[in-house]
Amino acid sequence: MVSVQLLLVSDEMKAFAIILLCAFAAVQGRSAGVQSTKSAAALGENPWLVHLRIAVSTSGLLNTCAGSLIDQRWVLTSASCLSDARFIWIRYGVVDVISPSLVTESSAVRVHPEYNAATGENDIALISINRAVHSVDNVAPIGLAQSSDIPSSGRFCGFGEDDSAPGETLSCFGVSLSEEDGKLSASSDAGEVSEFDIGAAVVNDGVQIAVVVGASSDNGARLMPVNSYVRWIEETANISLSPEAVPEPEDNPVIFVN
Ligand SMILES: *[C@@H]1O[C@H](CO)[C@@H](O)[C@H](O)[C@H]1NC(C)=O
Repeated sequence: MVSVQLLLVSDEMKAFAIILLCAFAAVQGRSAGVQSTKSAAALGENPWLVHLRIAVSTSGLLNTCAGSLIDQRWVLTSASCLSDARFIWIRYGVVDVISPSLVTESSAVRVHPEYNAATGENDIALISINRAVHSVDNVAPIGLAQSSDIPSSGRFCGFGEDDSAPGETLSCFGVSLSEEDGKLSASSDAGEVSEFDIGAAVVNDGVQIAVVVGASSDNGARLMPVNSYVRWIEETANISLSPEAVPEPEDNPVIFVN
């Protein structure tokens, strides 16, 4: 008799049945893999995350990538993000590119001296901010993982791609991490990493595990683990990094001093 009833249902009933089916499919999708679903990020959830817009000296075009605030004066990103960078606009405390909490401009870049664009080795770089960015609710540095034990999963946040153009809204999803032939990569059923997400952080348990260095064809990403670069970062930035030493947000609403 069920089939008869289904044949007789009104349009409203059909719509309701479709909604139920979609809800069921969404629940199935969530429980099928280890990944969380993709979700829009709220302001302050990822206070280390920065959006980078880069004026490229050779082409005159603008590139878009991402990075992480690792200190009051330094942003970590990938070297490939900064190829021929002339000026870099750094947006902090941003879930929507058009309304960041703070924007600074920089042209001081330190690319890893052994970065090899052809092989992708040491694809890591620092941007000097030229002023101290003090921690507030929406803007704060992240610690870097110093252990060579890479966890099996992490969390990725990025602005992604929208109709072949850089996306403008931050969203986050879980990724699985795997290592093959000494190369670390991320995969996910929940969302896609795009070329515009190069430089973004993969985070586990509140510390940055890796930098995205490329989008892969299966919607995942190629990663550069940060633990091997902690010494280089400390020497280059003249800072001391400790995952435990992330400063607490200050109540003071003034975000930076010169
Ligand atoms: C490195 O930092 C220390 C203290 O934080 C400072 O005394 C020293 O002058 C700095 N070195 C350079 C080369 O900037």
